[in-house]
Amino acid sequence: MDSKFWQQRWQEGRIGFHQPNVNPQLIKYISNLALSIGSQVLVPLCGKSVDMAWLAHEGYDVVGIELVETAVQAFFSEQNIIPTIAEFTSATDKSTLKRYQGQLADQTITLWAADIFSLNATDIGDIDAVYDRAALIALPADMRQKYSKQIRKLSHNASQLLMTLTYDQSKKAGPPFSISHKDIQQYYGTHYQIKELEGESSTLNAASEIAVTEHVWLLTK
Ligand SMILES: C[S@@+](CC[C@H](N)C(=O)[O-])C[C@H]1O[C@@H](n2cnc3c(N)ncnc32)[C@H](O)[C@@H]1O
Repeated sequence: MDSKFWQQRWQEGRIGFHQPNVNPQLIKYISNLALSIGSQVLVPLCGKSVDMAWLAHEGYDVVGIELVETAVQAFFSEQNIIPTIAEFTSATDKSTLKRYQGQLADQTITLWAADIFSLNATDIGDIDAVYDRAALIALPADMRQKYSKQIRKLSHNASQLLMTLTYDQSKKAGPPFSISHKDIQQYYGTHYQIKELEGESSTLNAASEIAVTEHVWLLTK
């Protein structure tokens, strides 16, 4: 799953992962993060998720990171926000980082059009919590350890709401990938306490008969 894969998916409109409505599990479990108004929430691999607008309406600043710039532009356009755009050079790999920033419900939404691995904690500022929906599960196994390490570095091990799936991976190639409790222990177990908040049976998508369990995890230091 390299940059080309995702650029192509967005270009061709193959974005079945995008939900038109706010994720009900975010609404149900956000209080577990015990955030105060004005806290800053990191949304890695954010796409153009409407969950970010909901977070702003709840009183939180949002920092999203998304590889595909057209997805970032689509978010602001769909939310009727005219962003300010600034360009930086990554201190990590010298790539160009584009920062889109706008206001919604008196909160600041900052979306970085960048590879998550090109950013560092100084770029994005203090993070109070991480909301991972369809981010860890979008990455193949050989990238996940690196990703989890990067999330820890970017957020200084801030608490996380993490949504994952388990299903029979032999029935379908990912993404999304099936991730077990043991995998999550491996990625985050050394630095967080991991608690399952929900494990709900469903199918992989409306057109699919593949049985899937959707998990919601709370990771705390
Ligand atoms: C499965 S989608 C999920 C999007 C969003 N979280 C949502 O719930 O709609 C994964 C997203 O991650 C982005 N992505 C993949 N690799 C990335 C990387 N290395 N850095 C930043 N974004 C990345 C893709 O372009 C894609 O929009």
